[in-house]
Amino acid sequence: MPAVVIVGAQWGDEGKGKATDLLGERVDYVVKFNGGNNAGHTVVIDGERYALHLLPSGILSPGVIPVIGNGVVIDPGVLFGELEALNERGIDTSELVVSSNAHLVTPYHVVLDRVTERFLGKARIGTTGRGIGPAYADKISRLGIRVQDLFDEKILQQKVEGALDQKNQMLVKVYNRRAMSAADLVAELLSYADRLRPMVQDTTLLLGNALAAGKTVLLEGGQATMLDVDHGTYPFVTSSSATAGGACTGSGIPPTAITRVIGIVKAYTTRVGEGPFPTELLDESGERLRSVGGEYGTTTGRPRRCGWFDGPVARYSARINGITDFVLTKLDVLSGLDQVEVCVGYDVEGTVVSDVPMSQTEFHHAKPVYQTLPGWSEDISAARSFADLPANAQTYVQFIEDLAGAPVSVIGVGPARDQTVVRRDLLS
Ligand code: GDP
Ligand code: IMO
Ligand code: MG
Repeated sequence: MPAVVIVGAQWGDEGKGKATDLLGERVDYVVKFNGGNNAGHTVVIDGERYALHLLPSGILSPGVIPVIGNGVVIDPGVLFGELEALNERGIDTSELVVSSNAHLVTPYHVVLDRVTERFLGKARIGTTGRGIGPAYADKISRLGIRVQDLFDEKILQQKVEGALDQKNQMLVKVYNRRAMSAADLVAELLSYADRLRPMVQDTTLLLGNALAAGKTVLLEGGQATMLDVDHGTYPFVTSSSATAGGACTGSGIPPTAITRVIGIVKAYTTRVGEGPFPTELLDESGERLRSVGGEYGTTTGRPRRCGWFDGPVARYSARINGITDFVLTKLDVLSGLDQVEVCVGYDVEGTVVSDVPMSQTEFHHAKPVYQTLPGWSEDISAARSFADLPANAQTYVQFIEDLAGAPVSVIGVGPARDQTVVRRDLLS
């Protein structure tokens, strides 16, 4: 089982951290391939809760080599802060490997992220304010600063000066902010170089050799399909490729090495930030999902928007990613409802469609068409096999599977590692 991909199948926070942790004991490498510290992946081990942002969740699994791939954007101050926080809790982080080609998030990216959002006003994206969009924009504009630049002071100086020539114009003239000093920024970045140096490798070579030696590599996606810069609800997306294709470009692992694509999907839907969300519930049903599901952002603490399961979105994700298995999380949160609604299509200005519409305008106007399924009252958090689930919960899972068009191989019934029903092994 060489390379396995984990992706979010909705708008993020589906439980990718828990799914990665579940497989952690059986894989050799866990690679983060996109995003940065906009992510917040929660792992609960022996009652202890860990929130990973820039680091792959696999850093918590003994024996796993955690890798930050070339597709990630790294805020070095955040990286060291996160490593120190884990070390203080007794986690060994010494095996971390960082790609020399990953781009850096610098203080001007963070400032620009925040001021552009403020200037957008009502049209804002609702970003996490971590500088992610501006850092990826610079990467594509070929203005970015990469990890390897920290080890060549002359180049670093040139690149920082080149970038600040442009950024300072924007900061001062457009956004009325103070200019940044190139000398100060170079000094700050150089202060990270010695600590980072031993972690840095050509991670494409490392992973290529690992695959050639028959090792198992898990590619842990950040964000999700509907937040992908190409396939999501643009412009209300993040700035990276969060889908299975991004796992290849963000790690240097070829598509032919990938044998399994695991889509993580919540038993209902949540979204943080702005943008279309057809099944959003703005009433007490949404409030119930938020409070029972603890739907508050891992990174920003913002309340997550909540709504019913969206079948067309799950099917779209299955298609875009080539999902071979779904992990359906948080089924326990639906316990106690008399009825559960599932969106099976949309009414777009009088026409009922079963797929995600082609245009963003149509998606904004899409009204969900629901099928009502009977609920269940039992607490399912102690279920460990499919047969342990009440009949109506089983029917719900099977309905989702048929609608989404890929098997639900694993079901989450609580945040802990063992609160899991495995119907089909994800690695064999
Ligand atoms: P990620 O970004 O996809 O890793 O997801 P987050 O960690 O941001 O959000 C998922 C939340 O749901 C976390 O608090 C998890 O501990 C929790 N969680 C994961 N799976 C389950 C589950 O099956 N049931 C419940 N009740 N909580 C879960
Ligand atoms: P994980 O990996 C949920 C959302 C933000 C915003 C949009 C753009 O934990 O699932 P950005 O800061 O990336 O430019 O913000 O994307 N967003 C997420 N929403 N989970 C995430 O990560 C997210 N990362 C970014 O809320 O709407
Ligand atoms: Mg999250």
